[in-house]
Amino acid sequence: MIKILFIGDIIGEIGRKCVKYVLENRLDKGKYDLIIANGENLAGGKGISKSVFEEILSYGVGVVTLGNHTFARKEVLEIISHPNLIRPLNYPEGNPGQGYCIVKTKEGQEICVINLLGRVFTVECLDCPFRAINEVLDILREKTKTIIVDFHAEATSEKKALGYFLDGRVSAVLGTHTHVATADFIIMNNGTGYISDVGMCGSQNSVIGLEPEGVLKRFLLGVPQRFNVATGPCEFNAVELSIDETTGRCLEISQIIFRDIKP
Ligand SMILES: [Fe+2]
Ligand SMILES: [Fe+2]
Repeated sequence: MIKILFIGDIIGEIGRKCVKYVLENRLDKGKYDLIIANGENLAGGKGISKSVFEEILSYGVGVVTLGNHTFARKEVLEIISHPNLIRPLNYPEGNPGQGYCIVKTKEGQEICVINLLGRVFTVECLDCPFRAINEVLDILREKTKTIIVDFHAEATSEKKALGYFLDGRVSAVLGTHTHVATADFIIMNNGTGYISDVGMCGSQNSVIGLEPEGVLKRFLLGVPQRFNVATGPCEFNAVELSIDETTGRCLEISQIIFRDIKP
């Protein structure tokens, strides 16, 4: 059996500190064969850089996924080809980076992680996420049955639809991007673990990780504002998965949620 921890969008420095604190003090990280984290908000709340990517790997994270903020910082190009970093598979052809990776556990089991980006209320010009994964899935399933999909998307309907599309063909479809954890985790009929959104790691006194002031002004005035990453106590949102590596079936999915983390 393979045990995986999947951590939702980590927001800025405070989110990174929160993850470090939880992995060192609240969870037994040694029990996981792989820790995956969404890192599209690692650097200053938007995008990723080499230093924060390396920092998060040093805490025990094995694979970092991205999303609509993948190319927010040009520094991403320094690390975009790293074997443990993936960006959405359905960015149009011609973009750098890879949409999936296969990593090996200490016991030598192979785990495939795939990143997809939804098309409802996100980035224009994306390829279809459903067709993009369909094109590679049969080949990947010949290499390993343990396949985890980070579906970075806004609409719960699009996420749930992908869950049905992939049920029985991947081990888990885990939603990210909204930064708000949903309470709908389930093992679907054909054995795929599913949750619409894992939630974030960042300041709990915030609007999805950002100081409320700027966000409120944006809504009240309709004019672009400077958004700052919020501070104060943090929430940590993740899911834990147990997977039968011989079939790829999800045997167990549960949420790991902490509040009032003061890193
Ligand atoms: Fe996002
Ligand atoms: Fe995000």
